[in-house]
Amino acid sequence: MEPIPVSYSKMKQTKLVLPPDTNHLDTIFGGKVLAFIDEIAALTAMKHSNAAVVTASIDSVDFLSSAKVGDALTLEAFVTRTGRTSMEVYVKVYADDLLRRHKELTTESFLTMVAVDQDGNPTQVPEIIPETEEEKRLYDTALARKEHRKNRSSLR
Ligand SMILES: CC(C)(COP(=O)(O)OP(=O)(O)OC[C@H]1O[C@@H](n2cnc3c(N)ncnc32)[C@H](O)[C@@H]1OP(=O)(O)O)[C@@H](O)C(=O)NCCC(=O)NCCS
Repeated sequence: MEPIPVSYSKMKQTKLVLPPDTNHLDTIFGGKVLAFIDEIAALTAMKHSNAAVVTASIDSVDFLSSAKVGDALTLEAFVTRTGRTSMEVYVKVYADDLLRRHKELTTESFLTMVAVDQDGNPTQVPEIIPETEEEKRLYDTALARKEHRKNRSSLR
């Protein structure tokens, strides 16, 4: 399988934060942000692998600040590194107050997605080619995160 550059499957999505998605402080529910993160990570991994994917783990989620009603929520995702059948995906979420022209990073997350065939069995994925400084940094540190993930689970 030919390795594929990160830029090929990199994704960006913008959503409007609406009242049903928020708590009594008018800020977005963490679970709602997680659903958006899972969705863009799946799309990114599907594009890279050209296969159906499942979420094997949401490895980390850091909520750094909150987004409020009326903010534009922008998600950016890319594959940092691949295993034989798994892909680590990094997602950043920005809240953009368009009226005040103020944008900040609200959330960052690492997920592991696994490509599967029609029977749900893991299937091989192409390797990734990092290009930018950020992509190279996350590619270089991915194996340490994978090791940490394995040690964390009580099942392995
Ligand atoms: C993820 C899944 C396909 C792995 O299947 P499996 O039979 O354990 O397959 P393997 O042991 O061969 O592992 C396949 C890959 O998944 C990775 N993997 C398996 N479980 C994992 C976990 N909990 N976290 C991170 N990676 C995991 C393995 O490291 C391996 O990666 P590699 O091929 O790059 O080395 C299977 O556990 C599954 O279908 N889980 C449910 C997924 C799901 O429904 N997600 C939505 C939840 S709401």
